[in-house]
Amino acid sequence: MNTDTAKVNSSTFWEAYYAKHREPANCSMFAAFVSPFLKEGKRLLEFGCGNARDSIYFAQQGVNVLAIDQCSNELDFLTDKFKDLDHLNFKSGDMTNLPELEASDYLYSRFTIHAIDRSGEQRLLQWASNNLKSNGLFFIEVRSIKDTLFGKGEALADNAFFTDHYRRFITLKDFEHRLESNGFDILYSLESNGLAPYKDDDPIVIRVIAQKK
Ligand SMILES: C[S@@+](CC[C@H](N)C(=O)[O-])C[C@H]1O[C@@H](n2cnc3c(N)ncnc32)[C@H](O)[C@@H]1O
Repeated sequence: MNTDTAKVNSSTFWEAYYAKHREPANCSMFAAFVSPFLKEGKRLLEFGCGNARDSIYFAQQGVNVLAIDQCSNELDFLTDKFKDLDHLNFKSGDMTNLPELEASDYLYSRFTIHAIDRSGEQRLLQWASNNLKSNGLFFIEVRSIKDTLFGKGEALADNAFFTDHYRRFITLKDFEHRLESNGFDILYSLESNGLAPYKDDDPIVIRVIAQKK
């Protein structure tokens, strides 16, 4: 089965979504879970920050954050709104085709790896491996194949389904192997509900902490 690139490219969907959800809400439960692992003054890069609720939370703790997203309108809004907040910078772009940047101590991806296809994931993991310092930590939360949304919509390649946007559901063991083959050790993984409830939905999601060798 081929994946239609127009369906994978989600920028129009997310620009429209964030035009209606411009203001950052409270940080996610995942960000609160990650926070104790972070040290003030270190560098964190967030892939797919959306309205930057988690990046803002980390910057407020004195972590130097670079928040990346494809939604340039939303990032223009956030750049202006948070111009006086120290430790926070934004960069608009495709997280699967990033240039080399100053190495980070931490990488953070919440609900973004299921928004890209397998080839995009591989470019992102390779980039992550090249741009994370040795022993640096990569924090990931992503939808699992055990999510009740799995199977809803038009079936595409690699456990992906298209509803009003693209979602590619992740098999934990396979994903761990892909991280390992890109130079990471798995320090922690969990697949469970109760981690990312939203309105009436309590999906089974995957959390991973991987460490660059
Ligand atoms: C489900 S939202 C998650 C936002 C945020 N991480 C959070 O948890 O609130 C997915 C985000 O990933 C971004 N995204 C998806 N594909 C992307 C890509 N190829 N490059 C950059 N951002 C991307 C979308 O624009 C959107 O903001």
